[in-house]
Amino acid sequence: MENIVIIGFMGTGKSSVSRLLSKKLNMELIDTDIYIEQKKKMSINEIFNKKGEKYFRNLEKQSLEILSNKKNIILSTGGGIISNDQNIELLRKIGMVVWLKASTDTIMRNLEKSKIERPLLKVKNKEQKIESLLKSRLDKYSRCSHFEIDTDGKNIDEVVSNILLNLPKI
Ligand code: S3P
Repeated sequence: MENIVIIGFMGTGKSSVSRLLSKKLNMELIDTDIYIEQKKKMSINEIFNKKGEKYFRNLEKQSLEILSNKKNIILSTGGGIISNDQNIELLRKIGMVVWLKASTDTIMRNLEKSKIERPLLKVKNKEQKIESLLKSRLDKYSRCSHFEIDTDGKNIDEVVSNILLNLPKI
């Protein structure tokens, strides 16, 4: 089957959904953040703190170029990967791009439960930061994706079933 690429904002369930999809479809799971962490032997947080966001974005772009040769994969991506227009083009070439959408409320709730600290959200007003980042990215997620799934009120199983239902139609 064609590769599947999962995009979406932080806290929309990309990692969990990708993990389950990879199990169900017996396809290798690759997560761009984990790939970068393993390559650099640093956590995403360390990379942001020591080297800055621009450096991270370059790593993200380079990693995507390397990973674009892979076949039969579920590619889970960092929420900001669509910041770069060349990444958008490349992601669409890599495979079927699924956008996991969620409201700010859902995102806030999911992030509270998450163990991973997001460097971009170490701010006083998290909600405001999420809203402004989301606003600046919506058009990019939309341009990048072949189809979108509204995840509000859905659990991981339901999101995955929804993706599987949509896949053959494309
Ligand atoms: C980021 C999202 C993170 C990670 C980094 C930057 C972003 O990934 O790549 O902290 O810019 O939205 P998740 O979407 O998996 O949290």
